[in-house]
Amino acid sequence: MVAAPPEHPTPARVVVLVSGSGTNLQALLDAVAERGPAYGVQIVAVGADRPGIEGLRRAERAGLPTFVHRVRDYDERPDWDLALAESVAAFDPELVVSAGFMKIVGADFLAKFGGRFVNTHPALLPSFPGAHGVRDALAHGVKVTGCTVHFVDDGVDSGPIIAQEPVEVLPGDDEATLHERIKDAERRLLVEVVGRLARDGYRIEGRKVLIP
Ligand code: GAR
Repeated sequence: MVAAPPEHPTPARVVVLVSGSGTNLQALLDAVAERGPAYGVQIVAVGADRPGIEGLRRAERAGLPTFVHRVRDYDERPDWDLALAESVAAFDPELVVSAGFMKIVGADFLAKFGGRFVNTHPALLPSFPGAHGVRDALAHGVKVTGCTVHFVDDGVDSGPIIAQEPVEVLPGDDEATLHERIKDAERRLLVEVVGRLARDGYRIEGRKVLIP
């Protein structure tokens, strides 16, 4: 007799990296809690580049292991990068998600996790990469901005794009109001994209990400 395939194969192991309030992390945690194995994701650990942040407290409240590597605790940036990569690798993830992680990773990290390291960015890439995507879009006077979920490569927010969602800039917007509206869209998009990658698999062909 041939055993029937399980209704939900083992959820993909995901490590999430954060630097701040962690509301994107929380959206992923909520999706795992609410949708269970059907969502296709298990978050196995949360890492950060600084202690004492709400993102780490969210992980602790969810009962998840955490780790912190501060750049300033290492003599050279590549030492930090290797330590981060080894901490992530210890949890054997299939995907790593940068959810507001405000550091650029280096060669060792990408050697281990290139092609499975996902970032969310608060602008419509390739416009407004970098640490101030919302501020830069406002300063430029664009009428539409948004969010981008993409794979990380060795540039700054330059890797293959997985999904994007537009957000209108309203006349009275400042950086905080616009960023909040972008984050509403971003949380939904990140939850959807991470679930699809985990459940359906994907291929990266050049700059194109193909999800079956
Ligand atoms: C998100 O808007 C994310 O796109 C941004 O930080 C915010 C984190 O929010 N990341 C970057 O700007 C990276 N360049 P959160 O901590 O509430 O999830």
